[in-house]
Amino acid sequence: MSPRPGPSAVVAGIGSYVPPNVVTNDDLADRMDTSDEWIRSRTGIAGRHVISPGTATSDLAVEAGWRAIKSADDDRVDAVVLATTTPDQLCPATGPQIAARLGLGHVPAFDVSAVCSGFLYGLATASGLIAAGVAGRVLLLGADAFTTIINPTDRSTAVIFADGAGAVVLRAGEPDEPGAIGPQILGSDGELSGLIEVPAGGSRQRSSGVPAAPGEEYFRMAGRDIYRHAVGRMVASSEDAVRARGWRMEDVDRFGAHQANARILTAVSERLGLPEERCLSNIERVGNTGAASIPLLLSEAAAGGSLLPGHRLLLTAFGGGLSWGATTLVWPEVRSV
Ligand code: UT7
Repeated sequence: MSPRPGPSAVVAGIGSYVPPNVVTNDDLADRMDTSDEWIRSRTGIAGRHVISPGTATSDLAVEAGWRAIKSADDDRVDAVVLATTTPDQLCPATGPQIAARLGLGHVPAFDVSAVCSGFLYGLATASGLIAAGVAGRVLLLGADAFTTIINPTDRSTAVIFADGAGAVVLRAGEPDEPGAIGPQILGSDGELSGLIEVPAGGSRQRSSGVPAAPGEEYFRMAGRDIYRHAVGRMVASSEDAVRARGWRMEDVDRFGAHQANARILTAVSERLGLPEERCLSNIERVGNTGAASIPLLLSEAAAGGSLLPGHRLLLTAFGGGLSWGATTLVWPEVRSV
C-alpha cells in the first residue's frame, strides 16, 4: 500500500517589491557600448530597478515578505525558504535574518540556490515541508540583488539582469482546491554548469590560496548557448507539467515564465502554441530579476488584473546549474499587496 500523500501546498498570499531606483537603457548606453535600440530589440527590456549602495537581497526580501504575509490575512508562518543567487553573505544563509526581521521568531529558515529556477525549486522545497508535516504555513521568497554580481563593464549581462523580490505564503490544503500547487517537474544538467557561473569566491578558488583573477568574482553567461537550452528545457518541462496535471496545453489560461529575455519567451510560447494574450510579461519594466522573476510577475499580474482567480496557470523557469522546472496551479482568490 502506498503511503497516503501529505497535504498539498496552497497559495494563500502574494506580495512583491522592487527598489525605487530605475536605470533606463539610455543610462546604460551612457556607460558602455550599447544602445536602447539593441537592448529593446534583443531582450525586450526598456528599464530595470536597481538597488542603492548598501542595500542587500534581504532588504528587498523583507519588503516582499511582509506584503505576502499581509495579503494572506494571517500572520502565522512556520518556516521561511529564500530562493536566491545573491545571499547577503557567503555564510550564514540569509533566510534566518529575514525571519528575524519579519518578527517570525525561531522558525526554521534557510536558502535554496538554483539561480533563475530558484523560485520553482523553492516551491518544491516548501511543498515538501508542508507534505511532511514540518510546517503548516511557509513563507517562500524569491529575491535577488543581481546587479551586485554583474560586471558593470560586461554589456552582455549588465543590460539584462536587475534587482527585485517576490514572495508567497503557502498553507497546507487539498490538492484539488484553487491555489494548490500541481505536479512539479524539475531537472538539472551539471555538465553544463560553466555556461552560467561566478568563477571565483567559492571554495575552489579560495582553497588554492591564489587571489581571484580580475573579473572572476563576477557573473558570466554564454548567452547564445543559454538561449538555446532555455527554450528547449522550458518547452519540454512545461509540456510535462501540463500532462502530469491532466490538462491539455489549450486549457492553460495564463503562462508565467521566468522573465529571461522577451525573445526567449516568444519562442517558448510559440512552440507551446500559447497565444500572446495568455502570456504574462513584465520584463520590459523589470528586466531579468533571477529568483524573484516569477513571484514578481505573478504579484504584478494579480494586482493589475491580467491574472484572475480561476485562471489555469502554467509556470516555468530555466537558469544556471543548469536547472529548470515547471508546475501548474489554478489561481486562487488572493489580493496582491
Ligand atoms: O535568466 C537565466 C537565463 N538567461 C537567459 O536566458 C539569457 C539568454 N541569452 C540571451 O538572452 C541572449 O543571448 C543575450 C541577450 C544575452 C544576447 O543576445 P544575442 O542575440 O544572443 O547576442 P549575441 O551574444 O550573439 O551577440 C550578438 C552581437 C555581438 O556582436 P558581434 O560579435 O556579432 O559583432 C555582441 O558583441 O551583439 C553584441 N552585443 C551587444 N551589442 C550592443 C552583445 N551585447 C550587446 C549589447 N549592446 N548590450
